[in-house]
Amino acid sequence: MIRRREFVQKSLMGAGALLFGRRAPFPFATDEGLESRIEILPNEPLGVISPNVYGHFTENLSGVVYDGLWVGENSKIPNINGIRKELVDEMRKIKPPVVRFPGGCFADSYDWKDGIGPTEKRPKRTNFWAEGESASAPPNHKYDPNRFGTNEFVQFCKLVGAEPYLAANVRSLPAEDFYRWVEYCNSPAGSTALAEMRAASGYPEPFNVHYWGVGNESWGCGGNFTPQEYAVEFRRYATWVPGYGQELSFIASGPDDDNWNWTRGFFEEILRKGNRQLRSIYGVALHHYAWNLSRGATKDWEKGKGDALNFDAVDWYELLREGDSMESFINGHWQVMGEVDPEHSVKLVVDEWGPWYRSGSEATPGDQLEQMPTLRDAVFSGMTLDIFNRHPEKVAMANCAQLINCLNSLYLAHEDKFCVTPVGHVFAMYAAHQGGQALRTIFSVPNIRYDRGGKPASFWGLKGAASLHDRQLVLTVVNPDVKVARETEIGIRGASIQSGSVTTLTHSDIHAHNTFEQRNVVTPQSKTLEVKGRVLMYTFPPASVTKLSVALA
Ligand code: AHR
Repeated sequence: MIRRREFVQKSLMGAGALLFGRRAPFPFATDEGLESRIEILPNEPLGVISPNVYGHFTENLSGVVYDGLWVGENSKIPNINGIRKELVDEMRKIKPPVVRFPGGCFADSYDWKDGIGPTEKRPKRTNFWAEGESASAPPNHKYDPNRFGTNEFVQFCKLVGAEPYLAANVRSLPAEDFYRWVEYCNSPAGSTALAEMRAASGYPEPFNVHYWGVGNESWGCGGNFTPQEYAVEFRRYATWVPGYGQELSFIASGPDDDNWNWTRGFFEEILRKGNRQLRSIYGVALHHYAWNLSRGATKDWEKGKGDALNFDAVDWYELLREGDSMESFINGHWQVMGEVDPEHSVKLVVDEWGPWYRSGSEATPGDQLEQMPTLRDAVFSGMTLDIFNRHPEKVAMANCAQLINCLNSLYLAHEDKFCVTPVGHVFAMYAAHQGGQALRTIFSVPNIRYDRGGKPASFWGLKGAASLHDRQLVLTVVNPDVKVARETEIGIRGASIQSGSVTTLTHSDIHAHNTFEQRNVVTPQSKTLEVKGRVLMYTFPPASVTKLSVALA
């Protein structure tokens, strides 16, 4: 039986109806048969939603960089200095706050020095993922031409308005290389030999990179460390790194799923040198992929995975159930961290999340780890983003794995073909939460019941998150029920509604997805709401993600 943890260790090698304002103020409405209620509590703020929880991840893996992001300056495909223009145009719409690069597992095999300097002199190297590539894969997926390196990545981030988040190699490069990468990126114009090299490539001004990952999955592909061994490495890598006037935020490689031992062991070892050590850690990276659709039959990484396109209603609920455990992982690791850091100066950074299916649904056959996102993945993504929205004090950053041509991608591209996936549309809808004040919101909704391999199982009926931006309230809600629309009474305690609008992402077919040929099968639909008063009634369509935007009087 192989679990994902072992796998990565081994890799070293329809719109709702609306009524309004005619019921008694929530929560006093008592209609017979009306079972679903949402109550938003503006006087119970949870914290500001960090825009960075809407972050992205671009690993140098198969078609993510070469073909997805980078097409080259001389390509016929419209580009901005080699970067795919359509991707830049689409990303600008979703306000991406931060992008992580170059891995993933790739990061701990990468020498950043290979990816700088004159492009014709950059060495070709074997990509970490080369062995998983098919015989017909393009050469640059197996052998990294290093055409896309630090300069190009930082320019990409600038184009889309995001901050770069660089993940450093702890497994196979010494700490000095890490300091030098920071020096290359951040030392002032003309100050160091590396600043001169940067200038020679056309970038005299520092990149001012703020976020630095110290390794990736250091329990597996990032070095097979014990948490104690890794903590020693972390201290060494993160000590006395010059910031050049830029505050450096170091992100430690954290646990996957429920690996409490990793979190506990890491912090215990860090603290053997005293509490001050906590100051060097901005966040601990938690990874969680939803992959096991076996209904509890196996924990085998290969056998347990499901199909991205061919699935039934039970697979749908099982995927959501797997993804929903993100909330208990956030709460659990937060509790463990609180045992040693009661003031919680260190936050969680969920820098890899998403569903992971078996291969076979690639838009571009042969692209490793690429899968076809459907409406199910949109609902999954809305659900996950709402989990982050509900824990603003705990989650400082999150990065969906991965931006393009990979697992839970927002975009698919191949040569001159491009499309936005249903996941991409969810990010566009949810951008409205960024920087808002999260509000405690109570969902009282009957559970969904289904048959899980002969045993009764249940899943929640509706969930979501609310945030306030001045007098503008944003409520996002996921209805996971594949058949049942939920007529719901929504109340905002102590406030009344002046106007509103609704955006819905759904489809009559739960397998619906967008392709290069049919780009708009699943797209969000918006309309104005004729709404005023203390309470609004809204029917959430089955299998849907909804955003309600409401101006408070
Ligand atoms: O996102 C794909 C891979 O999943 C990453 O490289 C690794 O960190 C994780 O195991």
